[in-house]
Amino acid sequence: MTQRTRQPIERNVAMELVRVTEAAAMSAARHMGLGDKEMVDQAAVDAMRHTLDGVSMDGIVVIGEGEKDEAPMLYIGEQIGDGSDPKVDIAVDPIDGTTLLSKGMPGAIATIALSARGTMHVPADIFYMDKIAVGPGAAGVIDIEAPVETNLANIGKALGRKMGEITVAVLDRPRHEDLLKQIRGAGARVKLVPDGDIATVIQAALPDSPIQAAMGIGGSPEGVLAAAAVRCTGGAIQCKPWPRNDEERQAAIERGTDVDHIYDTMELVGGEDVFFSATGASTGEMLRGVRFFAGGASTQSLVMRSRSGTIRWIDSFHNFDRLDKIRYES
Ligand code: FBP
Repeated sequence: MTQRTRQPIERNVAMELVRVTEAAAMSAARHMGLGDKEMVDQAAVDAMRHTLDGVSMDGIVVIGEGEKDEAPMLYIGEQIGDGSDPKVDIAVDPIDGTTLLSKGMPGAIATIALSARGTMHVPADIFYMDKIAVGPGAAGVIDIEAPVETNLANIGKALGRKMGEITVAVLDRPRHEDLLKQIRGAGARVKLVPDGDIATVIQAALPDSPIQAAMGIGGSPEGVLAAAAVRCTGGAIQCKPWPRNDEERQAAIERGTDVDHIYDTMELVGGEDVFFSATGASTGEMLRGVRFFAGGASTQSLVMRSRSGTIRWIDSFHNFDRLDKIRYES
């Protein structure tokens, strides 16, 4: 089936997904700074799974918490929703930055993305991908195979910025030593991020952002979630599988994965209807984290839809007493 024959998804499902990421962020944020990243993740997964039941759809988890036998909820292949249309693929990262949140550090977010059935692709069995992402202004000029300096020069030209006016976000990892040398050598500024490369890609892809590009190697599933966000902003991302060793490379090849393939934005998340929501769990540069107060909490979310290109920042106040009442009465 070609993507053109799919029925458009008329309703803005992202407006329902925001409740899902809000619930995950609030639940996980209860465990902020307690040093237990598993607990952070579990709380987010439980809340996300529970809230997803309220969304009318026929959904299949394409990116989730792992295989069925290791993940009781949000496992890959799990069917979600009441079975009514739309038929969708679902990608979740209940908390991107579990370590950050468990340490009380900035930048942890709860994320979810939806697109029409069969439109999300993650290279099977490859844990990491090399990534480059930019916003709409430089969407046509990136090439992950080109030298870093060439990409930066082209991004600068497209955005009308000098090299010193470009900031590149990179995960702070030893594997990026050479990449950092090249970015710094080209004269661009660097923002090193301890964790959470979905947020760095989104920031690079948002208009009026302090970051103009995201580069480097991060998780493959995170690449697909980030691509969903990029589809909504009109930016671009390219990803290339980055096998950790010969064994992983060989195993992937034997399973039919082209480890040299470059995935562009549309290959990672295709179709016309892509929906994305992220809610801040701990306060970062992009989103304010959960703030608890007596009887409730506030959250901030980023909610987007590809077809309209609308980007919403949603501030919510949650009254726990009244929410409890609704729960008990229903
Ligand atoms: P988790 O929240 O699942 O720990 O992921 C955090 C993260 O920084 C991702 O954003 C990123 O893609 C990945 O880890 C990078 O992996 P590694 O920490 O192994 O370099």
